Amino acid sequence: MSGMRTTQSLHIGNYFGALRNWVELQKDYQCFYGAMNWHALTDGFKDPQVFKKFNREIITDWLAFGIDPNKSVIFVQSEMAPELLELHMLFCMVTPMGWLERVTTWKDAAEELKQKDAYNLGRFMYPVLQTADIAIFKGAKVPVGQDQVPHLELSREIVRRFNNMYKIKLPEPEALLTSTPAVPGLDGRKMSKSYGNVIALLDEPENIIKILKPMPTDPARVKRTDPGNPEICAVYGLHKLFSSDKTKSDVSSGCRTAGIGCIDCKMALGGHINEFMKEPLAKRKELLNNPSHVDEIIGDGNQKAKREGQNTLSEIKSQLGWK
Ligand code: TRP
Ligand code: SF4
Repeated sequence: MSGMRTTQSLHIGNYFGALRNWVELQKDYQCFYGAMNWHALTDGFKDPQVFKKFNREIITDWLAFGIDPNKSVIFVQSEMAPELLELHMLFCMVTPMGWLERVTTWKDAAEELKQKDAYNLGRFMYPVLQTADIAIFKGAKVPVGQDQVPHLELSREIVRRFNNMYKIKLPEPEALLTSTPAVPGLDGRKMSKSYGNVIALLDEPENIIKILKPMPTDPARVKRTDPGNPEICAVYGLHKLFSSDKTKSDVSSGCRTAGIGCIDCKMALGGHINEFMKEPLAKRKELLNNPSHVDEIIGDGNQKAKREGQNTLSEIKSQLGWK
């Protein structure tokens, strides 16, 4: 079980950090993937667009990149009301304030959250809702990035306490960490929406060279004849993700011997990125031309997710002796 906040459209950092792994896991697991629009509201509540806008968009990208609705259950978080909220409320009761106050993603973000006017109750309870997201599907393994580890640790504690208290057997969820390769952004820093340095997943092929052109390279390569070191260059960092072994070794030696120029290097990279994007782009186009088909897939996923949620909640309630 996993999810993404619906605050933004995807970029290639999200692909290599999460989505690629989600696609892989479909082979071995029954997966549940949620578009988390309530979680998106915790700091995006002032923009009511956030609530709806990205649901279909983000799910379209999942489908384009290989999430298979016949294998995995794809759903929108807010469609899981009321069962999800009911479980969330039960979890709130067994979660001491101190546990939440200590979560690093709350404690360390306090100043930033206050500045954004997002130091609110919803944001405080964020990890409890996330625990309910997982537990409502009896999620055991949760593929996430390193940044989510503090939340998963808390989820385990909440579930453990809940299980012990009421003699329930929800699985204690375990983080499945992705070995995320470093994805350099267009300015050489880590790729992140907040730095404004992302390559959108689905940039039009014609644009890719334009996008790559201003990328900083090894500063030692002032003139075309100056040799460089690919290992300190973000362009090469992207080659590592997208390019064939042959291109990688050609580029690496060409850079060190000044056999190629940085423009050549970027053109080669652009070619490989376009090659990589080709199929998903075509799939996406097809989906965008048929939004009712996407809505059907989402509706179908929502229904399956809801059924699962209803089952879990009614089991829990009967164990609690609560009819
Ligand atoms: N907090 C997660 C993130 O920002 C998104 C998320 C919400 C999630 N609910 C979840 C992830 C449940 C895994 C399981 O990335
Ligand atoms: Fe970077 Fe490529 Fe230029 Fe070397 S040739 S500095 S790897 S862009």
